[in-house]
Amino acid sequence: MRPELLKRYAAPVPRYTSYPTAPHFSNAIDGETYGAWLGALDAGLPLSLYVHIPFCNEMCWYCGCSTKVTRQHAPIARYLEGLMKEIDTVSNRIGSQHDVTHIHWGGGSPSILPPEDILALASALKSRFALARNAEFAVEIDSRGLDEDRIAAFAQAGVNRVSVGVQDFHPDVQRAINRIQSFELTSWVVDTFRKHGIGSINVDLVYGLPFQTLETLDQTMDHVLALKPDRIALFGYAHLPSRITHQRLIDESALPDTQQRFLQANRAAERLVDGGYVTVGLDHYARPDDPLASGNIRRNFQGYTTDDAAALIGLGASSIGRLPQGYVQNATPIADYERRVSEGGLATVRGHALSVEDAARALVIERLMCDFTFPAGELRDKFGAVAEPIIAEAAALCRSDTEDMVLPSGEGGEFRVTDKGRIFVRSICARFDTYLGKGTAKHSAGV
Ligand SMILES: C[S@@+](CC[C@H](N)C(=O)[O-])C[C@H]1O[C@@H](n2cnc3c(N)ncnc32)[C@H](O)[C@@H]1O
Ligand code: SF4
Repeated sequence: MRPELLKRYAAPVPRYTSYPTAPHFSNAIDGETYGAWLGALDAGLPLSLYVHIPFCNEMCWYCGCSTKVTRQHAPIARYLEGLMKEIDTVSNRIGSQHDVTHIHWGGGSPSILPPEDILALASALKSRFALARNAEFAVEIDSRGLDEDRIAAFAQAGVNRVSVGVQDFHPDVQRAINRIQSFELTSWVVDTFRKHGIGSINVDLVYGLPFQTLETLDQTMDHVLALKPDRIALFGYAHLPSRITHQRLIDESALPDTQQRFLQANRAAERLVDGGYVTVGLDHYARPDDPLASGNIRRNFQGYTTDDAAALIGLGASSIGRLPQGYVQNATPIADYERRVSEGGLATVRGHALSVEDAARALVIERLMCDFTFPAGELRDKFGAVAEPIIAEAAALCRSDTEDMVLPSGEGGEFRVTDKGRIFVRSICARFDTYLGKGTAKHSAGV
C-alpha cells in the first residue's frame, strides 16, 4: 500500500457502531421522550437487552470503555440496587408482550460480580422480561480474578456465550498496557467455561498496541489458535489520550505507525483465515459453522452480531439503546445514574431522534460495514425519493475512485467495496455521514 494512499484513507473516522454516531447525540432527548418511545413500541416486537457493568479490578491503560476501578463490593452492590430499579421502571413501561431474543452484559467487566450477584441480576431480568426460547445470553469476561464459582454461576444463570478479553499475549506488550494475563490462565478460563457447558467462546484481540510487531503478533496468534475460540474480534487500538486520560500512561514512542498497523491487521487476518476462520465484516472472524459466519449479520454497539431485534434496550450507566424512533443514552457518571433511577425515573440524558434521511443513511452504513455493498435497490424500496440524493452520492464516489476501492455492481446504482478497499470501509462509510465534521468529536485512526 502506497504511504500517501494509506495516509489519505487512514484519516481518523468513527467505528460506525451506529449512525449517527454517539458524539452527535444531544440532550434534546431525555427520559420523557424515552418513556413515550417505549410506550409506543409495537406489541410483539422482539427486544434485545444490553446491561452495562462499569467496574473492573484494574485499569488497562489502553481501555476506551466506560468503567471504574474498584476493590470493594459496596459500590457494586449499590449499583446493582440501581440496576434493579431501572429494570423495574423500564419493564413497567414496556409491558410483557415482547420476547427478549438477546441479552448482553458488557462493561467494564461483568465477571467482577460475585456468584450471588450474577444469579440475582439474571433472575431480575428473567422475572421482568419474557425470555424467548433459545435466546442468546452473552457476557464479557476478564479472566484475571475469575474463579470457578463465578463460571458455574454464569452457567446456572443461563449464559450461553462468553467473550473473553485477551488483546495480546506477549509479555512486553502486556507490561506496556498494564494488563498481565498469562496464556495458562486464559486457557483454564476457556476450558472451564466449556466444562460448564458454555461452548460458544469469543476472544477479543487488539493490534496497534505499544511494542507490538509482526513477530509478537505471530506468537499471540499461535496462542489464540490453540484456544480454538468460535469467534475472534480484532480491534485496531483507538488511541485518544486527549479524551481518555489513562491512555497518557501508554508510551507513544512504542506505538506502531500507520504502515505497521496496516501490516499487523493484514498479518492477523491472514493467520486467522489460514487457521480456518471466515472473515466477518471489518474485524471479526468466525469458525465456518458459527452463526456469525452465515453472512446474515447486523452491526450494533458491541460490534457484529446475529441479533436482529428491532429494539435494543440499554440498562445501566452510559448504556445506549436503539428504538425504531431513535437512540437514547443513560447518564454516564455512576452517581448521576444511581440518583436518577433511585427516584424511579429513567436515566436517559441524551440521544437522537432519527429522521427519514438518518434512517436511510444508517441502512447504507450498516450494509457497507456488514457486507461491503451499497444497497441502492433496498434503499429505493424503503425510502423512495429520500434515497435518490444518497444514490447520486454513491455514483459520485464510484466516479471519483481512482484507486479501485469500490466497484459498480448493478444498473440501479449498487456498488461493492473491493478486497483492497475493505480495510478502509469506515472511510467509505464516512462519505455518507452528513454529521461528520460537525461538532468536536475525536475519532481513532482509520486503519
Ligand atoms: C469491556 S472490554 C472486554 C471485557 C473485559 N473488560 C476485558 O477487558 O477482558 C471490551 C473490549 O474492547 C476492546 N477495547 C477496549 N479499549 C480499546 C481501545 N482503546 N481500542 C480498541 N479496542 C479497545 C478490547 O478488546 C476489550 O476486550
Ligand atoms: S479492557 Fe476490560 S478489563 Fe481492562 S479496563 Fe477496560 S473494561 Fe476493564
